[in-house]
Amino acid sequence: MEHQIRTYRPEDLSNLTEFLNANLDYDSLSKSLLKEKLEGDPDWEPEKALICHDGEKIIGFMQGVIRDIRGTKYGYIKLMAVGKSYRRQGIARALYEELEGCFISDNVDVVRIYDVPKNYFMPGIDPRYTEAVCFAIRMGFKRFGDATNLIVDLNESVWDTAREEKSLKIHGIEIKRAEVHEKQNVIDFVKDEWALWTHEIGMAFNDDPPSIHIAHLHARLPRHGGQASRQGKIKAFSAHNGNNKGTGWFGPMGTHPELRGKGIGSILLKRCLKDIKLMGQKRAIIPWIDHIDFYVHHANARVDRVFWRYEKLLK
Ligand SMILES: CC(C)(COP(=O)(O)OP(=O)(O)OC[C@H]1O[C@@H](n2cnc3c(N)ncnc32)[C@H](O)[C@@H]1OP(=O)(O)O)[C@@H](O)C(=O)NCCC(=O)NCCS
Repeated sequence: MEHQIRTYRPEDLSNLTEFLNANLDYDSLSKSLLKEKLEGDPDWEPEKALICHDGEKIIGFMQGVIRDIRGTKYGYIKLMAVGKSYRRQGIARALYEELEGCFISDNVDVVRIYDVPKNYFMPGIDPRYTEAVCFAIRMGFKRFGDATNLIVDLNESVWDTAREEKSLKIHGIEIKRAEVHEKQNVIDFVKDEWALWTHEIGMAFNDDPPSIHIAHLHARLPRHGGQASRQGKIKAFSAHNGNNKGTGWFGPMGTHPELRGKGIGSILLKRCLKDIKLMGQKRAIIPWIDHIDFYVHHANARVDRVFWRYEKLLK
């Protein structure tokens, strides 16, 4: 078959949403969520969002993005699907070869699939998409790790933290929802240690009120015993709705090393879970986790989806 490939145009959004929903068996996207993945990407390049079509009909799609991360240039397949009745005809191969050609001209070092920091749909290939696993192997990718999403049943608790917050306050630690004017302070706090998270934090600040909670450490005034100064320093934060908006997506969160082990993270986590519940979700997703024991202990999180991560070195 002769493949016709062209780049994405804004007027494709409805048809592309329908196409992806029909051809991704374990996922669904709304139009606004797809728009977040495409135009909402901080490195969005429409010329790397490739549509394979048969006349007016979309029969294949592959989106690529490039990120510079600590001196390495990563190219990502961010989304891909081929229409069920058009599979095994070389469409994904044709889309990938075109995308890889763009990556090579852009001097990309390594290509990965789906696990795009800052804004991603899923953090790797869900291996139940068995054809995608075969495709990755065939295109020369090697599996290098896993990523796990946890799930929390929000009906299990009211996620109240008032008592714990009161006891931290005595030690000068105040936990509160971040206010709009504090955005730069939060970004300054994360940018040294967790620079890749600033985009999600910015997205969470777009909500009204912001989907961000923070811990301030107030310096004690030496002569006045327990009285705290008004201006505190941000020492921890948690966010939600910073990626995959509207799906109950938690994270990122971080506590300064000096203040770990005091229960701050647990409160910040629960505050976000309470927000997600109030937004009408029954379950929260804790994606691409590192510290499974923390989430299991504090929120009875359970392992949900597991993703396989693949990469291909271009140099
Ligand atoms: C994965 C997917 C995009 C492949 O699209 P496709 O157009 O059928 O792929 P191609 O025909 O270009 O196949 C390229 C190579 O991938 C491998 N492959 C693809 N489908 C395969 C299958 N069902 N079984 C075995 N190998 C397969 C083959 O090696 C193939 O090369 P070959 O035909 O020369 O042997 C398609 O199956 C799909 O849309 N799946 C659902 C969506 C999805 O999985 N998205 C990714 C989610 S993480």
